[in-house]
Amino acid sequence: MRVLSGIQPTGRPHWGNYFGAIRQYIDLQEDNEGFYFIADLHALTTVREPEVLRENVINAALDLLALGLDPSKANLFVQSDIPEVAELTWLLMTGTPMGLLERCHAYKEKKAKGLPADAGLFTYPVLMAADILAYDSQIVPVGVDQVQHIEVCRDLAGSFHHAFGETFVLPKAKTLDVGAKVPGTDGQKMSKSYNNTLPLFGDVKKIRKQIMRIVTDSRPMEDPKDPTDDHLFQLYQLFAGPAEVEAMAAKYRAGGFGYGEIKKAVAEVSEEYFAPARAKREELESDLDTVRDILAEGAKRAREVAASVVDRARRNCGLR
Ligand code: TYM
Repeated sequence: MRVLSGIQPTGRPHWGNYFGAIRQYIDLQEDNEGFYFIADLHALTTVREPEVLRENVINAALDLLALGLDPSKANLFVQSDIPEVAELTWLLMTGTPMGLLERCHAYKEKKAKGLPADAGLFTYPVLMAADILAYDSQIVPVGVDQVQHIEVCRDLAGSFHHAFGETFVLPKAKTLDVGAKVPGTDGQKMSKSYNNTLPLFGDVKKIRKQIMRIVTDSRPMEDPKDPTDDHLFQLYQLFAGPAEVEAMAAKYRAGGFGYGEIKKAVAEVSEEYFAPARAKREELESDLDTVRDILAEGAKRAREVAASVVDRARRNCGLR
């Protein structure tokens, strides 16, 4: 199967990115043809300092490689290295109903908050559709927040087909049961734009402090509690094995245990879980030339595929 996904270089990756998406990339690279990219064109809708963007892109590559993405098994590249994607965005845009984009959540949320939105943010799902369709992608591993965008992608492919005949492969979203919607430190979805993230890399002591400050309810300690609706328990579940999860659930139900205990447990399991990736990242940081070579190699292969798909689309709509 052809698998594709992207991540925005808008800051340091967090637990939501890893458990919703990156972990799937690593699993799927074994038996599939993987295309994974750093979505710098999408990031331009929020990152407006060129140096920061450049740095974020290389950091995102380091993060993905440290977490286990293997360039001998999957293609890793930068979105803007494939100009065909921008061209395909235009081809799709000509058949995109305004109403469809008005319903997309990133734009809708910004507008609801009264924040200024530009045409880049409004048409963001069309660029994402082009990302997916340009590589004849069949499976798109993502967190649940991106599923709507993959539906939009299928709609846009359908509308292109209606006008010009079969052209694209229709993709399917793939989400996980545990990890598809990781809560942040305030219990809402973990997201850079909500300022509630727990980073994958960075100073361990600082992360531990952030974990200890996770917001909890004020029910008395002795009350029995239902673990399933608790965000700390959901975070613990990401790391712990089934027996540990069951033991923690029993403590919740029995009552008489404080949230401090589970916070400490989350800090410990998460530190242990990410320790190998931390070490690998340090190693990679000293060899950025190799990282740049990996991105160039990945882009070469990605560009071959995108050029042939966009050529097909151009012919079908009468551009030559
Ligand atoms: P981005 O950069 O916001 O997030 C990258 C991936 O992480 C997932 N994710 C989460 N999963 C579970 N819980 C959370 N709290 C959480 N927060 C983020 C996202 O679902 C995503 O899979 N538009 C995309 C980037 C993109 C893309 C694409 C993805 C551009 N083109 C084509 C797939 C295919 C985005 O902003 O992801």
